[in-house]
Amino acid sequence: MPEIIDLIDKSRINELLSQYSNVFKTSVFLLNKNEDLLLKFPENINYTDLITEPIYLRDSVVGYVGIPGTGNPPQSLLAFIAKNMTEIIGMGHEIESLAGEVARNYEELSILRSLSSRLGAVLNVDKICNVLAEEVMNICPSKNVSIFLVSEMLADTLSTSSIIGSENFAHSIRSSVLFPKVSLGTYSSTALMMTLSTDRGLLKYVVEKKEPLTVCDVSVDNRFEGFPYPVKRIFIAPLIVEDSLIGAIVATDKLNGEEFFSTEIKLIFSIASYCAISIKKALLFDGIRSVLFSTAEAFSLTIEAKDLYTYGHSKRVSDIAVKIFKKVGMSSEIINWVRLAALLHDIGKIGTPENILNKKGKLDVREMDMVRQHPLTGARVIEQIPMLKELAQWILHHHERYDGSGYPSHLSGDSIPMPSRVIAIADVFDALTSDRSYRTAFTEAEALKIMRESSGKDLDPLLFEYFEKIVSAAG
Ligand SMILES: [Fe+2]
Repeated sequence: MPEIIDLIDKSRINELLSQYSNVFKTSVFLLNKNEDLLLKFPENINYTDLITEPIYLRDSVVGYVGIPGTGNPPQSLLAFIAKNMTEIIGMGHEIESLAGEVARNYEELSILRSLSSRLGAVLNVDKICNVLAEEVMNICPSKNVSIFLVSEMLADTLSTSSIIGSENFAHSIRSSVLFPKVSLGTYSSTALMMTLSTDRGLLKYVVEKKEPLTVCDVSVDNRFEGFPYPVKRIFIAPLIVEDSLIGAIVATDKLNGEEFFSTEIKLIFSIASYCAISIKKALLFDGIRSVLFSTAEAFSLTIEAKDLYTYGHSKRVSDIAVKIFKKVGMSSEIINWVRLAALLHDIGKIGTPENILNKKGKLDVREMDMVRQHPLTGARVIEQIPMLKELAQWILHHHERYDGSGYPSHLSGDSIPMPSRVIAIADVFDALTSDRSYRTAFTEAEALKIMRESSGKDLDPLLFEYFEKIVSAAG
């Protein structure tokens, strides 16, 4: 408990003492908790035998007020002054606490607003976890901050399970393992190799209580089972969505050596709640995307089954297109959409008669026209799905040529969407290195030689350079 002198401004105390002195016509003394003299009014009065009354803050003595004990002074006067000072100090302290609370709430709101603008519609688990770890590191710079998640499959299972929030939930989560997703700080590489079990140690306590935990010295806490890096102080906050645990924040040893304060813990727990919802949404989106990709792959294989020579072509084109996009340095978000577009690029062949697709000889003009309809048919199919409208354009133009001699729109150069130019390169390479009804496969070296000759005419020359580097590195 603080001293009275720390709770009220010194000039304000002097003012109070002078008012008591003037109104009650007596000298007034202020003493600390040990009854040593702090202040007096009038200032030139000599210290004398005093009668004193304690001044309280929340039932604890923070100092004493005294008046001279000579001349039979009224005890009620002293009691009044002490009570008055107790009330004034109590109100002052309350105002200070409220001001502190307002400041902390403002800080919390500012951080949540910043998080909201940084995360927005982000549906990337890694990015959300990175932002969360950075925010925790900003609030209390520590030697290490790691974000652990339960396996995505488990999170999905739990989200749809009727046992969430029940005792069965606690039982099922007890046996799960949390894997590191992101780690910042001195021991990040070590932290990224460790796992945490929810059925023992400090994490067990956090899971059961569903609240943050801080330990000032793990060496004297027998719940701590050891980490693969040095730890003295630790802070763990659960990531909870709708009563289900999806992960945990683990921070160890603040850089300034101080303990993790309750204000920091409260702030981090608020951020954790916000981010946990974003992580859960991203995990669900990942699940939906995974189903979408599997469906697209199954779809492309079904269509390719009409022609044994092209079986698996779309998957191979997709893999090559992704490699080119990674080499160019595109974001993982775009790469995922390109992967999907490449898987579906020949989906329009669903409208091409099987006898034409499997014809051993040369196609006549009418048959060639029918084959050339497939980008248009594919785009029409895909544009029926609103979220894939842009992919429909990439599919529509995957047979355009860089010099404008392709189809269906005779686009040239950069007017051809970049994903279409990438798919075109992957498409040609896979076609050349696969057996056809009318020829056997070219070797990779032969295919590259053929493609090099058409680079700048049929194919985007810059993207082809990236592709050549990929093939050379693999060879
Ligand atoms: Fe095609």
